[in-house]
Order: sequence, then C-alpha cells, then structure tokens
Amino acid sequence: MPLGSMDDREAFRLAEGLESLHVAIIMDGNGRWAKERGQIRTVGHKAGVDALKRTITAAAELGVTHMTVFAFSTENWRRPEAEVSDLMGLLRAFIKADLARLRREGVCVRIIGQEAGLPPDIVGMVADAHEQTRDNSRFFLQVALNYGAQADIVEAARVLAQQARDGLIDPEAITPESFGASLSTHGLPPLDLLIRTSGEHRLSNFLLWEAAYAEFVFQDILWPDYGRESLKQALDIFARRNRRFGAVDPGHAAQSA
Ligand code: FPP
Repeated sequence: MPLGSMDDREAFRLAEGLESLHVAIIMDGNGRWAKERGQIRTVGHKAGVDALKRTITAAAELGVTHMTVFAFSTENWRRPEAEVSDLMGLLRAFIKADLARLRREGVCVRIIGQEAGLPPDIVGMVADAHEQTRDNSRFFLQVALNYGAQADIVEAARVLAQQARDGLIDPEAITPESFGASLSTHGLPPLDLLIRTSGEHRLSNFLLWEAAYAEFVFQDILWPDYGRESLKQALDIFARRNRRFGAVDPGHAAQSA
C-alpha cells in the first residue's frame, strides 16, 4: 500500500499561474564521505541530513519550487541491519526536529513510497507530516522513502487494471496523463532536473516515469558536502541546456520547412 492519501497528493500544487521548477536529487556518497574520515557510514548519513537541510533552504532561495529527494529505496533494506535502523532513526529525528520549522517556513511535505516494511511509528509520523504541512505552498518537498519506481509503476497498472475490470474505465482511454495521475508522484509538475551526486551515473530505480524529459546533471561531490554552491552550479548547467521535448529548435524547423 502506498504512503499518504489521494487528498494529500491533490494538495501538492502551486497556485494557478505560477511557474514551477521541479528538481530531484539522488543524495549519493554518504558512505564514502564517512570512510574518507575513518568513520562509520552512519556518520556520513548524519552529515547527509545536514546537507539536505542546507539544500532545501538554498533551493527555495534559488527559485526551485518542488524538490524530490531519494532518502531510502526499496533496495536499501539489503544494507546491514544497523545501518537501516540508523537511517530510520535519522528520519525520525528529522521529522521530530524539523517539521515545525518546515511548517513555519511554508514548506509542504509529502513522503512517498511503500508503507509495507516501515516501522509503524514512522508511518504515523508520515501521516502527521502530511497533515501539518498540507496547506503550505511556498515550497514543496517530496521525500521518497521505501520507494522504487518500478513498484510504483506496477501499482498504478494494478489500480487501472482493477478499474477496467470493474467497468469504471475503458482500457482504450488510458493515456500517459491518466497513467501518470495514478502514480504516487501525482499532482507534481513535470520533473525538470535530476541531480545525482558522488560521480555515479545511474537512476537506481528512481522516478523512471517522471524523468522522461528531465535534464540530468551528475556532480562529483559527495552528498554530505553538498549545499548552495553545488546546487547553484547544477541550476546554471540546467539553464544552459536546450530543452526540446522531442521537437526541433525553432531555427531548425524554419530551415527544413
Ligand atoms: C546514499 O549514500 C545515501 C542514502 C542511501 C541515503 C540518503 C539519506 C540521507 C541523505 C539522510 C537521510 C534522509 C532523511 C530525510 C532523514 P551511500 O550510503 O550509498 O553512500 P556510498 O555510495 O558512498 O556508500
């Protein structure tokens, strides 16, 4: 079962007429950062939470309206039990210590992923975070927790198949838009930019559907060192990209006409 309700998803929108900038980040390199310092991996994750806080503040200041971050994937359960438990502990601490501030600062928080497998108190905290920030619209923070894009796509297919079986929809009428509306990321503007840190060049089962027309920026920096300067660098690279969405440049179109 996915985390959160349909109502929460509907609320994750900018006011009419405002232009969105949706950035997603795969926050990679915590383990290596800790290793370089002769520390255990959890020390890197802790520093990663600080980097996340810095980056949220910087993102809002730099014109980002929506940010989706990969906090824990469905594959991360394969990590040693102690590391998984420390990551859950950090999430608890993050929600406890920062939710009130995020709410005051106008941040709308949504946590997506599979409910199954998560500690029950975290499921409760997720519902609380949604409830407390649902009316905010200055900045939208989506945290992917126990999330895997393939499972999300399969779940959407199941929901639509069931609706078709019940005679509620015509399979022929399923479109990319209606399919996207059945994903847990429903209601967010299209993804503009996907960043991965630490020099790895993989999507790792993150936002497979949503990244269809996103620009990718891979940065060599390890996540705990990330902050305003690195984000600004990524946004500058993004601003120089020529996004055509499958079409051609207007200049080229004129030449070939
Ligand atoms: C990848 O680094 C990072 C993760 C698996 C977790 C990301 C989590 C955080 C930044 C902190 C937790 C977030 C919240 C919202 C509380 P890695 O461990 O794979 O690093 P490595 O590739 O160097 O080993």
